[in-house]
Amino acid sequence: MTETVKQQHMADLIRQAVVIPVLTIERLEDAVPLAKALVAGGVRTLEVTLRTAVAAEAAKAVIAEVPEAIVGIGTILNGDDLARAEALGAKFGISPGATPELLKAAASSRLPFAPGIATASELMQALAYGFDVVKFFPAEQAGGIKALRALAGPFPNVRVCPTGGIGEANAATWLAEPNVLAVGGSWLCPAADIRAGNWAGITAMCAQAMKSLKSA
Ligand code: 3PG
Repeated sequence: MTETVKQQHMADLIRQAVVIPVLTIERLEDAVPLAKALVAGGVRTLEVTLRTAVAAEAAKAVIAEVPEAIVGIGTILNGDDLARAEALGAKFGISPGATPELLKAAASSRLPFAPGIATASELMQALAYGFDVVKFFPAEQAGGIKALRALAGPFPNVRVCPTGGIGEANAATWLAEPNVLAVGGSWLCPAADIRAGNWAGITAMCAQAMKSLKSA
């Protein structure tokens, strides 16, 4: 894939998602039922974060057993994590940040990838390596929609997936921004519901969110 094709592919993946749940899976046995619950609610593009001991195994299980899910790996912090994501068969990778080491590895990898940025300098660094589709993180804490609009001045062609502090109350407002492709966050997969195995509750919440966000 050329750099431009890879970036377009990443943009398309994110745009068609509308919402990307950021999954932190503590127990391996939760992975497949959680993914099935999300998919049943119409949320198919999932970010499995590398934040727990079972994360890679969890992603592997979801990829093998929930073919309707489009599984990406999140919390990619370095080149090793990126290689791990590729080896797992992830469809895309996402990072909260944008170090030169990671950007260099991602630029030479075939995996569609979105680095994380919160400032103009971080965004310039990402752009220097060819990444114009980025995660804006932590979106609310880093200045919210006002900050995003300010960044769109000098960087009108950058497209973002904001995450951090996004939930039912503000997802539609973020999605209405012209440079926002999709929104991400953990609100559709609350830790308490995962712990309790409240899969039906997660499905209902996803279905409701997709309905209101798609019509917004
Ligand atoms: C992320 O990595 O995108 C965040 O952990 C998601 O933030 P949230 O929990 O505030 O949705």
